[in-house]
Amino acid sequence: AKAAAKWKVGFSQCTTLEPWRVQFNKDIQAEAKKQPDVELVITDGQDKTEKQVADCENLVVQQVNVLLISPKESAGLTGVVEKAIDAKIPVIVLDRNVDTKRITQFIGGDNVAIGKAAGEYAVKLLGGPGKAAGNVVEIWGGMGTQPAHDRHDGFHAFTDKEPGIKNLLNNQSGDWKQDKAYNIMTTALRNNEKIDLVYGHNDPMAYGAYLAAKDAGRDKDIKFILGIDGLPDEGVTWVSKGQLTATFLYATPGAEGLRQAVKLLKGEKLEPVITLPTMLITKDNASDILKKNGLL
Ligand code: FRU
Repeated sequence: AKAAAKWKVGFSQCTTLEPWRVQFNKDIQAEAKKQPDVELVITDGQDKTEKQVADCENLVVQQVNVLLISPKESAGLTGVVEKAIDAKIPVIVLDRNVDTKRITQFIGGDNVAIGKAAGEYAVKLLGGPGKAAGNVVEIWGGMGTQPAHDRHDGFHAFTDKEPGIKNLLNNQSGDWKQDKAYNIMTTALRNNEKIDLVYGHNDPMAYGAYLAAKDAGRDKDIKFILGIDGLPDEGVTWVSKGQLTATFLYATPGAEGLRQAVKLLKGEKLEPVITLPTMLITKDNASDILKKNGLL
């Protein structure tokens, strides 16, 4: 332990039940190891708003020098973020935003842009602009989160222009979870003879939908399945196996979050928003990514 560390950085993670969150924690820990002046304290909200609120309150009591938070949802975490700011602790928000302008910085992907890229790609797969046709199953992430709304809005900016595209579901949320998406897809398969494309707001849900189709003996009929996250050992692997058609990289803000916290502690001024880059991952580039990560 770095007993004599100059700065204490608190990081409130919303859950460690999802693989992307596990990677996120690894990324922030690896960056913290490079910073001799930093002691990093990570808490796990266990996917419960109340637990995450209590975690943040606790980090405020510990008087961390900066609070990093990746909220489970916006509404329930906004109050405690403001409490920290009232206690003169600057807050950097990662991935899912809160509903206050008082934070020092937000770091995350541009989820509207990712949704648009997915929507544009879906239109292309289904026949191209003006000609696209097909039945679409969209599985939402957590309803109380900004990324889910942005991923929905971006997608529909393209697909809603196509009269031939039919949305089979009405805002159904799998809460980012594979098993919930499996159940939603199982019901959708039962109720619909023809499903052409599935859009999952993250890879675990897209994969859950694939498994449901496979178990129903219909995986060959579902032409396209799109996800988001692009973790090498998850989404990229599923794309390379042909289980998903494509995914969009959603890099974790772990390393950048820690670097920005250190900048702030050194007295530098931070930009209000840092947007992390994305990329389309298909069979064409999936194996390169797997090779780079030592998985092939
Ligand atoms: C993990 C996760 C990711 C997703 C992100 C959105 O908890 O569900 O799969 O991209 O959160 O906030």
